[in-house]
Amino acid sequence: MMAVAAEARHSRLERMLARLAVQKACLEFACSELSASRGVILELGLGKGRTYDHLRKLFPAREIYVFDQTLHAPRDCVPDSRHLRLGDLRETLADPILVALDVILVHADIGSEDLASDARLTLELAPLIDKLVSGGALVLSDREMKVARWQALPLPGAADDWRYFMYRVGESPASR
Ligand SMILES: C[S@@+](CC[C@H](N)C(=O)[O-])C[C@H]1O[C@@H](n2cnc3c(N)ncnc32)[C@H](O)[C@@H]1O
Repeated sequence: MMAVAAEARHSRLERMLARLAVQKACLEFACSELSASRGVILELGLGKGRTYDHLRKLFPAREIYVFDQTLHAPRDCVPDSRHLRLGDLRETLADPILVALDVILVHADIGSEDLASDARLTLELAPLIDKLVSGGALVLSDREMKVARWQALPLPGAADDWRYFMYRVGESPASR
């Protein structure tokens, strides 16, 4: 009840602004954290291409693989065909070819207005993402994900008006 009441105090415009601010702050945190690391980026949820466009600005030298169910981004935000994976993430993320990539950052922006459906989706996606990342990688998400070896990180200072999630991936038990 409290959450509904708190949400109702903010208009959709205010919520959109808060969401965009937290996304920008988290992506920029990831950029500073990972500047000395090698590896590729996975953007899950191309949508209108806003966060993909910011990622490619922040990480101009990195390969960014981009996923969505369907393509509805402006033309200037569509990656080349080698870096675009269309289809349900539960299938496209399970592609064994992805395991060979050295993934250093996953940004999962897959939320909808249906929180129950999103929760079911993230339950399936988290273990698929976990198979693709190694120790030290970051996972940023607009929906909470629970994986034993992922450590939740505090959000960057200004980003406390919108729920967003950042995790640092720990070493897998097998590699210790
Ligand atoms: C919030 S939007 C992404 C917004 C985008 N990052 C941006 O900045 O413009 C969520 C996207 O996730 C995609 N999506 C949701 N569930 C999916 C699934 N199961 N498989 C593939 N894409 C999915 C939707 O098609 C939608 O484009």
